Amino acid sequence: MASYDVIIIGGGPGGYVCAIRCAQLGLKTACIEGRGALGGTCLNVGCIPSKALLHASHMLHEAEHNFTKMGLKGKSPSVDFKQMQEYKDGVVGQNTAGIEFLFKKNKVDYLRGWGKITAPGQVSVDGEVHTAKNIVIATGSEPSSLPGIEVDEKVVVTSTGALSLPKVPKRMAVIGAGVIGLELGSVYQRLGTEVTVIEFLDHITPGMDSEIAKTLARSLKKQGMKFVLGAAVQKVEATKTKAKLTYEGRKKGNVETLEADVVLVATGRKPFTDGLGFTDIGGQMTERGQIATDANWQTNIPGIYAIGDVITGPMLAHKAEDEGMAVAEVLKGRHGHVNYGIIPGVIYTAPEVASVGKTEDQLKAEGIAYKAGKFPFMGNARAKAMFMGEGFVKMLVDKETDRILGCHIIGPSAGELIHEVCVAMEFGASAQDIALTCHAHPTCSEAVREAALACGDGAIHA
Ligand code: NAI
Repeated sequence: MASYDVIIIGGGPGGYVCAIRCAQLGLKTACIEGRGALGGTCLNVGCIPSKALLHASHMLHEAEHNFTKMGLKGKSPSVDFKQMQEYKDGVVGQNTAGIEFLFKKNKVDYLRGWGKITAPGQVSVDGEVHTAKNIVIATGSEPSSLPGIEVDEKVVVTSTGALSLPKVPKRMAVIGAGVIGLELGSVYQRLGTEVTVIEFLDHITPGMDSEIAKTLARSLKKQGMKFVLGAAVQKVEATKTKAKLTYEGRKKGNVETLEADVVLVATGRKPFTDGLGFTDIGGQMTERGQIATDANWQTNIPGIYAIGDVITGPMLAHKAEDEGMAVAEVLKGRHGHVNYGIIPGVIYTAPEVASVGKTEDQLKAEGIAYKAGKFPFMGNARAKAMFMGEGFVKMLVDKETDRILGCHIIGPSAGELIHEVCVAMEFGASAQDIALTCHAHPTCSEAVREAALACGDGAIHA
């Protein structure tokens, strides 16, 4: 038995970042993780392995579609899927080992096993009890399937199974046109799979700016991805090698079927609290199965905090990280802050999508007087040189004050470009502040400046 200032349950982006920050602030810290590797869903079976496969399949797409245009001739590469998986596993391994190193460097005790809260200030790890002044729950989330669908992670898979398929399937059906469905659908579509995405709503990427969603749908269709929109999947019947999906059109009520070799269920995720013991000691949950917290991430039990996917808010690694750092400050007796209005969201498809702040749809619904400045990547020399002239930057500003309210980008390096706008928004900047800032030429970032110029007297290159 050991006693700590703080024990963090869960070693994902929320938990491990919280642990490192607590230790840096001088608190005696332990972090419990049961999966055998640090980094949580994100590093092991989420963000990082998917980005490795997205990168590899994007390279293949470039070789097949753009190399000859640049005078790079010769045979297109063929896919050695086993080696691609090894490359992906290598990337994951390097990153998870990196966190273990950071734990040692910062003197965080890594407790291997599954943690259970047995009383306030008391956590058992596979039977061994440890005490702590404070406990932080950072247990994350797990895929949520649908009734009538049994996941076997072979033919009917979640994102976890989709990242480790033994071979590239001929036909894949994806249930849900959210982030996971589109990112992993893109991977296999580029590797040669016939991908059909079935989505309940009549548009893709719920919550995204609708103009961006339309542009992304058009682009993915052009690449060969098929969409069935406005259809609810009712059941999936699977054998050892294939599956039959039954779905119903929401408007016409027509019932259709679709056969596939692999079905990816990407219909959202739910908080993971199995075996945690939190409710057994009187811990309060929300109606949606999340751990209820106050403005300082404290639960109804004093000394027990919760962060990340297990509480309310977007299920994003960087949101969890920010909460982890903020809670560490609170536990040190200082002020912890997360600006939930400025959390960027990125979809790592090609073209890439990035978004921060209000969407145009939200501004309209809220009756806020705004101005939109838009700039197409076709007017950006750097993007065109890379065959990435598709897409645009849309900046949304307050009509009266020019203060930036949101920004939505679809195009090259969107996930990198968005941060300039995030920083500007944190400083309460106007579009003119960005427009008057010198941007290096030729860069894709110039498109952000041009969108800012378009909020004023006009863009130069459009
Ligand atoms: P999601 O909530 O983004 O999308 C799920 C989609 O499934 C929705 O569009 C929904 O309408 C649809 N759906 C639900 N039931 C259906 C049915 N019966 N038939 C057809 N369609 C149905 O969830 P997703 O993609 O599974 O992602 C889960 C979480 O992981 C999200 O919070 C996401 O933000 C996060 N994530 C973030 C990534 C990123 O930031 N790049 C990457 C991967 C995941």
